[in-house]
Amino acid sequence: MIITIDGPAGSGKSTAAKALARRLGLRFLDTGAMYRAITLRALKLGLDLASEPALARCAAQADLHLDYEEGNLKVRLDGQDVTDDIRRPEVTDQSHFIAAAPGVRAVLVRLQRQIAQELGGVVSEGRDQGSVVFPDADVKFYLVAQPQERARRRYEELRAAGQEVRYEDILEAITTRDRRDRQRAVGPLVKPAGAIEVDNTHLAPQETAALMAAQIEMMQATSYSNPHLRGWRLPPSVAPTPHLYRFFRRLFQVVFAAVWQTRIFNRRYEPTTGPVVYICNHQSFLDPILMSMALRRPMNYMARDTLFRVPGFGRLIWALNAFPVHRGTADTGALKEALRRVQAGGQVVVFAEGTRTRDGRIGSLLPGVALLARRARAITVPVVVDGAFECWPRWQPLPLPGHIVVQYGRPILAEEAGQMSADEFVARVRGDLIALQAALRRRLGRPPLEYGNSADREEN
Ligand code: C5P
Repeated sequence: MIITIDGPAGSGKSTAAKALARRLGLRFLDTGAMYRAITLRALKLGLDLASEPALARCAAQADLHLDYEEGNLKVRLDGQDVTDDIRRPEVTDQSHFIAAAPGVRAVLVRLQRQIAQELGGVVSEGRDQGSVVFPDADVKFYLVAQPQERARRRYEELRAAGQEVRYEDILEAITTRDRRDRQRAVGPLVKPAGAIEVDNTHLAPQETAALMAAQIEMMQATSYSNPHLRGWRLPPSVAPTPHLYRFFRRLFQVVFAAVWQTRIFNRRYEPTTGPVVYICNHQSFLDPILMSMALRRPMNYMARDTLFRVPGFGRLIWALNAFPVHRGTADTGALKEALRRVQAGGQVVVFAEGTRTRDGRIGSLLPGVALLARRARAITVPVVVDGAFECWPRWQPLPLPGHIVVQYGRPILAEEAGQMSADEFVARVRGDLIALQAALRRRLGRPPLEYGNSADREEN
């Protein structure tokens, strides 16, 4: 796993990289320290900083090591600990010569890649990490903050260290460094392609790290950039009849928009690839159609076996990815088929209450869903439908027009699910669904549904 953090001086990259690395169990790589070390070496040797070949030789001959002691970076240069020396003001001031020398950059880029490979993954921060050094990084961040705020941070840092400095001077130095970083010909500071920009002007360091960690979690759950999901394709056995599926989906979208003003919230939680189990509450016969409209990838779902015996209709829903379930029994055949489809990289939607709600509330979930999600090592996404019950309660023969909303919840990763018992998993998903329903109804100005303890006991 390689995570890159690029950004201008004083944007909090080091602090963020350190915190993130600790959270993820990775090492962090402070590439600025490497440029500083070479600067220090060049200064010690009294080199002409305008001579590119001399600087390149200086980098190539340097014996540079980054060690980690209790999570802190130690920089060793030619056998000496220079961890503190490289932070000296003259090093900071002169480092732009070294950073602009192509020969130096070539040496350090090679070293950075080598370190990442040896460590098996890093959180690497600098100016060119996502753009030049690790263009295929799993997650890239671009950290920014307003110059005044960056200058203020540096000012407080230096004052705390007992140095007499003026805020105006620091602001000017930062502005100059920004310009040099952005304008140099090799490895300039840019926002790397595909990077997530985080502006932390108003964030505390730990808030920045938490935000970034949440982003990584989200991307692992939902993005092509997740290495565990890369390359997943729907195999033919799970692929729908695309034209037919698309035709019906389009048709439903038009009809549902007109009759039920259907809206879908939090669609970003739909993983773009790989095996997924959606656990959805069940309000009416409209739910499977709503889900097929909500999901961008084709869905697989269970339908009552008797429906497959209806001439014509059975064939149609089969072609639209339904598979039969025998109600009223623990149908292991249906569960196996669901598992097969999920394991093949498909998306399966489960209405885990097994039957439509009687009062709008979410009942207890069938334990089979835990087996499905955990066995398939799939991402689980809770989904709530709201308003369908009001339009079409189970005692009413036909649906009435109204207002229906579908909202996705935060995905539960396979690793997380794997750490829970089946009971814990089911309880967690139901809890998520109930919370999601409450939040959604609040958002829509609908009265909340009561889930008192007694009601829960009744359900279970
Ligand atoms: O981040 P820090 O201030 O420690 O960086 C020191 C110097 O190294 C800066 O002048 C910066 O431009 C340069 N640098 C670079 N490429 C990196 C990291 C730092 O050119 N990847």
